[in-house]
Amino acid sequence: MKALLQLVLASLTAGSVLSRGGRHGHAIGKDDFVHVNELRLYDSKGLHYLTGMNYWACMNLAAGPSAGGNYSRLVTELDQMAAKGINHLRIMAASESATTPQPFRMNPPLLQAPGQYNADVFEGLDICLAEMSKRGMRATMTLGNEWQWSGGFAQFVSWATNNTLIPYPESWNLTAPPQREISGTGWGNYTKQGVDAAPYSKFTSFANLLYNNTQAEAWYKDHIKTVMNRRNTVTGRLYTEDPTIMTWQLANEPQASDELGNTGPYNIFLKPNPDDLLFPWVERTSTYIRSMAPKQLISVGLESKQGEYYFKRVHNFSTVDYATTHCWVQNWGVYDMYNSSEANLKKAQDFATDFMRNSSRWATDIGKPVFLEEFGMARDNWENKDKEYPYLSSASTSHKNAYFETIIGTVMDEFRNGGAYIGTSPWAYGGIYRPETQHVNEFGMVWAGDPPHESPGWYDLYDTDEAMNIVAAQQETIAQWIKVHGNSTGC
Ligand SMILES: *[C@@H]1O[C@H](CO)[C@@H](O)[C@H](O)[C@H]1NC(C)=O
Ligand SMILES: *[C@@H]1O[C@H](CO)[C@@H](O)[C@H](O)[C@H]1NC(C)=O
Ligand SMILES: *[C@@H]1O[C@H](CO)[C@@H](O)[C@H](O)[C@H]1NC(C)=O
Ligand SMILES: *[C@@H]1O[C@H](CO)[C@@H](O)[C@H](O)[C@H]1NC(C)=O
Ligand SMILES: *[C@@H]1O[C@H](CO)[C@@H](O)[C@H](O)[C@H]1NC(C)=O
Ligand SMILES: *[C@@H]1O[C@H](CO)[C@@H](O)[C@H](O)[C@H]1NC(C)=O
Ligand SMILES: *[C@@H]1O[C@H](CO)[C@@H](O)[C@H](O)[C@H]1NC(C)=O
Ligand SMILES: *[C@@H]1O[C@H](CO)[C@@H](O)[C@H](O)[C@H]1NC(C)=O
Ligand SMILES: *[C@@H]1O[C@H](CO)[C@@H](O)[C@H](O)[C@H]1NC(C)=O
Repeated sequence: MKALLQLVLASLTAGSVLSRGGRHGHAIGKDDFVHVNELRLYDSKGLHYLTGMNYWACMNLAAGPSAGGNYSRLVTELDQMAAKGINHLRIMAASESATTPQPFRMNPPLLQAPGQYNADVFEGLDICLAEMSKRGMRATMTLGNEWQWSGGFAQFVSWATNNTLIPYPESWNLTAPPQREISGTGWGNYTKQGVDAAPYSKFTSFANLLYNNTQAEAWYKDHIKTVMNRRNTVTGRLYTEDPTIMTWQLANEPQASDELGNTGPYNIFLKPNPDDLLFPWVERTSTYIRSMAPKQLISVGLESKQGEYYFKRVHNFSTVDYATTHCWVQNWGVYDMYNSSEANLKKAQDFATDFMRNSSRWATDIGKPVFLEEFGMARDNWENKDKEYPYLSSASTSHKNAYFETIIGTVMDEFRNGGAYIGTSPWAYGGIYRPETQHVNEFGMVWAGDPPHESPGWYDLYDTDEAMNIVAAQQETIAQWIKVHGNSTGC
């Protein structure tokens, strides 16, 4: 692994030659749709492994300056990712606002009210896809969100119920104390001010009324239809005819409607509820998407933290092309970012290894590939404990690097040994952003890798981070392996 890393680093210094079209140097061909065959993905070049990255703010960064975008940052970061061999980005293709300004959200939103779009942000999505296509990167288009940071389910429910107040859980407030001397630069804190600081279960119960509210679901589907039927203003292509769009994803982390199903992972009290409203919602929504997108793939966006039963029920529909997992060791109480011990790290590594092997087996059972499309770990933040901000970028990343080697390594092993895994996608690219130099734009956004309801810098991957070299080494290793063993003809 060490030697390989050095090789990758050496090749990266070749710089701009590589950066234009990614390591492979190819823009995506006009009919080069990715398809699934048994446990694998294929494109026209053969077996297709996903060296992915979450880059959810792409449409906002790509929007014009009057909508808070920054084209120069966008292309810099896309070039950086392409140079690390990244061939897939998971991006938002939805965000919702409210009649009254709402906190903790991507701003400006794509959807200002049912049927009312922000034209600049929509053009941003076009630009994002056009720039990705040139660099050989395909997209997962996330069409909804369980969580508050893009508006999401809760906003649709609020719209459908006379603008009911959303019971927000505690969320990061960049303007709460402590503040730095220069206004607009943070730090902030979790805050209860101005919101009904609800337990997460109350928030998810509210958001999940989407599954059982005809008007909310109709507006959500209207949005899906509008995005899917869009013609890209840069490339002139219909979205449904664009192979840059590999996958339409129902939502980010839809939760079970049964409250116990929300908790996880592997809650010992969790009794699967066969009548959970999540299942018919997945079936209805994926069937609807399939009817408009015969050439593209569909995924749900499930974390799969509830274990085998939920994994299989959600992913077994014929209209779901592959399964997904998200692995969150700190958020799920397996890992403590202030604990520098080897034992703490090992617990996280063991959990992730188990989770990857288990989910690979479950996916094999239902005959579908599985994509690890979210995972992350904080920096060595025990070094920041007594500093002005717990998430300073100056902290080292010894645990994060070791964890990335383990979880990415496990996925690569599953792939090479005939398991169901088809790639990884860490959370999330912060690129040139740093908390130390952050400044909110006129819309209150800093566009860190962490979304607006969480502390910026927590899970960011920066352009100079070692984790990016681990991602790049993965791409090299797999490309090499496919050359030797792979099915280069596809099917
Ligand atoms: C836009 O991005 C560039 C880096 O490409 C950065 O130097 C500049 O400060 C950014 N502008 C704004 C308004 O954030
Ligand atoms: C909707 O909310 C408004 C203001 O909050 C209230 O005046 C009105 O009565 C509500 N309408 C219904 C049908 O609940
Ligand atoms: C964020 O914090 C500021 C300063 O304490 C406060 O005025 C504002 O109401 C808070 N916002 C929310 C949404 O809680
Ligand atoms: C941030 O909020 C927590 C919990 O509300 C509080 O204990 C802490 O003192 C706050 N931090 C600062 C620096 O104000
Ligand atoms: C769904 O909504 C209907 C009424 O709108 C209600 O009668 C039913 O109990 C709800 N079902 C669930 C499982 O919440
Ligand atoms: C998945 O669906 C297939 C075909 O519809 C069915 O035969 C199989 O039992 C299902 N598996 C699970 C685990 O639900
Ligand atoms: C650090 O984590 C390890 C493993 O979970 C645990 O045994 C140890 O008590 C923790 N130390 C502290 C100070 O929390
Ligand atoms: C993996 O599966 C085993 C056996 O079913 C189970 O005991 C374990 O808790 C699972 N672990 C994870 C992290 O999924
Ligand atoms: C390549 O994959 C296709 C589809 O899975 C299969 O039919 C074919 O036999 C494979 N060819 C080789 C050489 O493995």
